[in-house]
Amino acid sequence: MLISTYMPPHLDEYSIFVRDDGIEIWVIQMGPFGNMNIAFIDRENGIVVLVDPYDGKQWSESLKKSLLEPTHIILTHTHRDHTAGVNFLSKKHPEIEIWGHEESVSPSLFGRIIFRKTDFSNIWTHAPNQSVEWRVGKICLQVTHSPGHAPGHVTFHGHGLYVAGDLLFTMRSGRVDLPGSDPITQWSSLRHAKKLLQSLPQDWRLIPGHRYDWIDGTTPDWVTIEQVLAHNIALNAPDIESFDALPFNRFDDDLAD
Ligand SMILES: [Fe+2]
Repeated sequence: MLISTYMPPHLDEYSIFVRDDGIEIWVIQMGPFGNMNIAFIDRENGIVVLVDPYDGKQWSESLKKSLLEPTHIILTHTHRDHTAGVNFLSKKHPEIEIWGHEESVSPSLFGRIIFRKTDFSNIWTHAPNQSVEWRVGKICLQVTHSPGHAPGHVTFHGHGLYVAGDLLFTMRSGRVDLPGSDPITQWSSLRHAKKLLQSLPQDWRLIPGHRYDWIDGTTPDWVTIEQVLAHNIALNAPDIESFDALPFNRFDDDLAD
């Protein structure tokens, strides 16, 4: 449960909230592509877990102002816009752990243009539509293997959040026309995600990989799971043919997302 929200003046770009389980959560949009970044913080144990850091320098400096430093990076996938801050953070904080799924690899020469070679210190190896528990200090997240947009794509949920990466945005889902993408696999991951979302508290927040348009034309940092289940076009597609025909699955610009 959320118990307080605060916005210290030196961190006013972040949405920061503290839960009654002691975990502090920072949310921010970074970079020109609308990427959402999140930190799960366990101050008592000095643990800071960053999800898909875009601007490593900004994260490092902002955390330092709050007498913190990053200890873990967890990656939904290794597209360049989700890993842009990893190299800076691993050089600046050599002890940092970098976690991703073992299948998060570039599948082809062309794929290397959109994937960033990422040296994981630790990997997840579980099968698609399976979840494993990931625990560090008081932070406990379920990691669900959800490929389709990218191989080895995972989502995270826990502490009142469902971190969707590029599996889901607020109103739509991630494109399936990139190297390593697979629409049938994405459909399977979306069906699994729908059941999972139906099983979670409906007031939890879904944070998308990108801050794209919501149904009212705004671009919120998050919406509730209840809102996503009601309005997300991909989650509500009745069958794979309808899903595959959705216009946001494929674009002319091969390198975005
Ligand atoms: Fe992506």
